[in-house]
Amino acid sequence: MQHRVRAAALREPRTRCSLTCFPARRLGQVCGERPARDIEKLIDDGTRAVFCETVGNPAGNICDVEAIAGVAHRHGVPLIVDNTVATPILMKPIDYGADVVVHSLTKFMGGHGTTLGGAIVDSGRFPWKQHAKRFAMFNEPDPSYHGLVYADHFGDAAYIARCRSVFSAPPERCWRAQRLSAAAGIETVALRVERHVDNARRSRNSCAATAGSIGSLCGFATAPIMRWRGNISAAGRARS
Ligand SMILES: Cc1ncc(COP(=O)(O)O)c(C=O)c1O
Repeated sequence: MQHRVRAAALREPRTRCSLTCFPARRLGQVCGERPARDIEKLIDDGTRAVFCETVGNPAGNICDVEAIAGVAHRHGVPLIVDNTVATPILMKPIDYGADVVVHSLTKFMGGHGTTLGGAIVDSGRFPWKQHAKRFAMFNEPDPSYHGLVYADHFGDAAYIARCRSVFSAPPERCWRAQRLSAAAGIETVALRVERHVDNARRSRNSCAATAGSIGSLCGFATAPIMRWRGNISAAGRARS
């Protein structure tokens, strides 16, 4: 049975994974302190992708993209990374081995709350043809596109070509306005993220100055992303 293996702590795995164009029949659950090692145990002939978030929402956990990419590639499987929380301003997963990166545009990228949408960025580096048995979808004729074989026609861009042709063709017109609005947000994302980071750093400094240990819990030096409230100690919660 075809499936993806995903890192633990995704809140809405089915919705998020369906962004990526692979049908979701079975999602492997991964837990533990060493996600790359746990993921490796779950990859089998039915695996079509490994899926993780650079920074998990809501857990605030940080995935070792490089290690997970290494494991996925060792088994001839692409790594799909949701980079919504970190944004490309703070983290570029393709530099660490991700094959495909996805973003929800309704958060930092869009920034203004007017647009529903997502983005898929294909690195164009995954060799779909080398893994023809696993990826029949890209290596066998597609009857809905006059027998087109995506990997033959588009090479390493087979994945994004299929996303564009199969998924974006019908609602193209209603997406046009959404796309304009998303693009307007993306133009300012670098500036806004810089400001968010600056504000977080100031909050951290203020916490550190006024409440010692709470400050260290959300401190940049010890935790690059502020911990979810559940991770804060009882003493910290009582003080906050
Ligand atoms: C990391 C992450 N990816 C994807 C999504 C889904 O986004 P959307 O609501 O735009 O479909 C969310 C929503 O919370 C999210 O936090």
